[in-house]
Parts: sequence; structure tokens; C-alpha cells
Amino acid sequence: GIGAIIGTGIFVLTGTAAANHAGPALIVSFLIAGLGCALAGLCYAEFASMIPVSGSAYSYSYATLGELVAWFIGWNLILEYLFAAATVAVGWSGYVVSLVEQLGMHLPDALTNAPLTKGEGHFELVRTGALINLPAVLVVAAITALCYVGIHQSARFNAIVVAIKVTVIVLFIGFGMWVIDGANWQPFIPENTGTFGKFGWSGVVQAAGIIFFAYIGFDAVSTAAQEAKNPQRDMPIGILASLAVCTVLYVAVSAVLTGMVHYSELNTPAPVALALDRHPELSWLAGWIKLGAIAGMTSVMLVMMLGQPRIFYAMSRDGLLPPVFRRVHPTHKTPYVGTLITGTLAALIAGLFPVTILGELVSIGTLLAFTTVCIGVLVLRYTRPDIPRHFKVPAPWFVCITGALVCTGMMVSLPQDTWVRLAGWTVLGFLIYFLYGFRHSELRKSGR
Ligand code: ALA
Repeated sequence: GIGAIIGTGIFVLTGTAAANHAGPALIVSFLIAGLGCALAGLCYAEFASMIPVSGSAYSYSYATLGELVAWFIGWNLILEYLFAAATVAVGWSGYVVSLVEQLGMHLPDALTNAPLTKGEGHFELVRTGALINLPAVLVVAAITALCYVGIHQSARFNAIVVAIKVTVIVLFIGFGMWVIDGANWQPFIPENTGTFGKFGWSGVVQAAGIIFFAYIGFDAVSTAAQEAKNPQRDMPIGILASLAVCTVLYVAVSAVLTGMVHYSELNTPAPVALALDRHPELSWLAGWIKLGAIAGMTSVMLVMMLGQPRIFYAMSRDGLLPPVFRRVHPTHKTPYVGTLITGTLAALIAGLFPVTILGELVSIGTLLAFTTVCIGVLVLRYTRPDIPRHFKVPAPWFVCITGALVCTGMMVSLPQDTWVRLAGWTVLGFLIYFLYGFRHSELRKSGR
């Protein structure tokens, strides 16, 4: 879980979120997003403990809420996994460029930046002059190769990387807290500039929607349910414990970060390293942080890219996607075609788009899936009370409804453009369902 969670969100997006939306109140944004995730996480844990099969929320909803809802959730999970892997690859690239720079080399801008970015007007994409974000493409290719070979090697690799990234974060907090200047926390919530989402409370909530990205991944634990030894017990523990650890670390990092430098300076691709560079006595740590961030983001991509083909696999098994997605490699025993397709698409997206557009799209899609899960868990208490639940959400009315409301609130706060992109994605999803899934559905074939 931690392998999937800590990555681009904390190492990259915190900077822009503080500088443009929340100021030091980013701490509050992290608490709001954390609350939404904790409530959705409880629902996930109940869902996962009911149906221990691979495929995440997609499979649980398929078994309980019907094919159409399942397809809708599965389609949004593509934003959460495949698009998130691409987003993290872009963040990874930013830190690699910065580390290489520190070592005295400059990589050509045309090969390390997105060729497309947000324009001034609504829904406008403009060319930046760059050709491709090559490091982002290359790292996706490397991770794809690792996922192709198999989950055992990958799980060991993941454990090492988690240790490294948690260590650098703890070092940042441990050293950084001594150089906090309380004046940087004033004003705690900078005044609203007259634009929705730019400081003031609307900024705090919009920042929560943006840095919600930092929490994405805790549910990835559930995609490995089929490979776990005791899923009924291990899934809820895995999900909730990783979420708890990350919330504590995130709140601490945002407090230290905005205390070390004024929030207005944080609009950079590597804000954590910048904060250390501003304090000469700590600049020795900056290089290590960059290395840790790079390692950390690598493990996030790994978990995302292990998860996505397994979700595709489940969707294909149910007849909603073509049979190639359930082809398993004869020696490696991995869903290798799905892995290659995931890798190719993620590399393409990572090579072309900037982290802001991708991050917001991933956040909104995931929030929609989480909202559906929260409501679904409550509905199932009444429609399927017969299924044994090894983990039960306490006070389900309160937890499920508040979870759905907090997640919806964060969605509502995200920019209009992101909503339009989500609408486009949803329409595309339903088109595919009615043109392919509906006709090939195993459920329909078996007449159930
Ligand atoms: N939570 C993951 C990250 O921050 C996706 O990179």
C-alpha cells in the first residue's frame, strides 16, 4: 500500500497546491483529503473482504452491483491506474532532470518536457515547443518490462523502495522541523484573490481535490487479493494501515515544507528539494531527497502498472473487454498482453502531457469511483445481507454517506476543464460498453 501511495503527490503536487491554491493551509487540505480516503478506505476494506478476487473495486461491484455499475467503476479505475502511472512518470522525470542538473549536466529541454500544456483559455491545449518527455517514456518502458516478468521479483523490489522513500521523508521531517520559521505560516489561509480555488476556503478545498492524488493507491492493495495468503484479514489491515501511516507523514511534510519556505516560492517541480536548498545547512540532504523521491515514484508506478492489467484481465474474463486481455504468459504466468498494452498507453500519455492536467484528471476519476464504492457498500448492506463480511464498516450510514459527500465535495471543487474531460471519458466508456461489452458479456451469454 505504501509502495503505491507515496509518490508524485507529496514530492511534486504539494508545491503547486500550496503556491497556487491553499498556502500553508495545505495542511488542512491534506486532512480533508485524508478524511475522504479514510472513509472510502473503510468501505473498500468491507468490499474487499466480501469478495477476495483480483480486479479491485471492479470485481467487487461486478459480483454485487451488476455489470453496468461494474463497467462504470472499472472504466474510472483506468484513470486511477493507467493514467496515474503516466502522471507519476512525469513527476519522476522532473526529479531525474533536477538530480542530473545537480550533478552538473543539463538534459535538453526539448526532450524532457511535455509538448502540450494548458493554454490561457478554457479547454485550450497549446504546444510548448518541446518534442517529448523522454525520461518519462523510458521509465514506463522499464517498469513494463518488470511487470512482464512477474509479481514475485516485483514485490521484493517494492519492499526495498518503500524503505528508502519512507526514510527520506522521515529525514526531511526530522531535519526540516528545526529550521521552521513561524512567520511563513502567516497568514495561514491567504486571502482569496477573487478567483474560485485561489486561496481562501475555496482554495483549501480545491487543493484537497488536487493533492487527493497523493493518497491514491491504498486500494491497489485489494487488486492483489487473489495472491494474498489470508485476504479476509490481510486486505483491511493492508488498506487502513498504509492510509494511516501516509496521512501522518503528509500532514507533517506539508507543515514542515510551508514552515521552511514561504508558500509563494513553492511553485516548482521539486518543491521538497527547493525547501532544503533554501537552508544551506541542510542542502546536503537535497540530493538524497531527490534520490528517495525517484525511488519512491518508481514503486508507485510499479504497483499501478501491476494493478491495471489485472483489472483488464477481470474485465476481459467477464466478456467486457476482448480476450487478448486475459492471455497469460506461459512461463512468467503474468497477463502479459494487458501489461504491454498498459505500458504502451501509459508511455504515450506520459510523453505528451504535463503533470497538472493528468493529476487533476486522475483525482476526479478516482473520486468518482470512490463515491460509487461508498454508496455501493451501503446499498449492499440491504440488497445482499447474506454475503459474509469479514470486515464491516462501523456506523455504515454515517461512514458511507459522509465518505461519498467528502469525495463529491472534492470533485466539485476541481476546475471545470477537468469535469469536461471526465464527461468525455465517461461517454467514451459507455460507447465501448454498448458497442462491445454488452454484446460479448458472459453474464448475458449465460442468461443470468
Ligand atoms: N499516490 C500516488 C502518488 O502520489 C499516486 O504518486
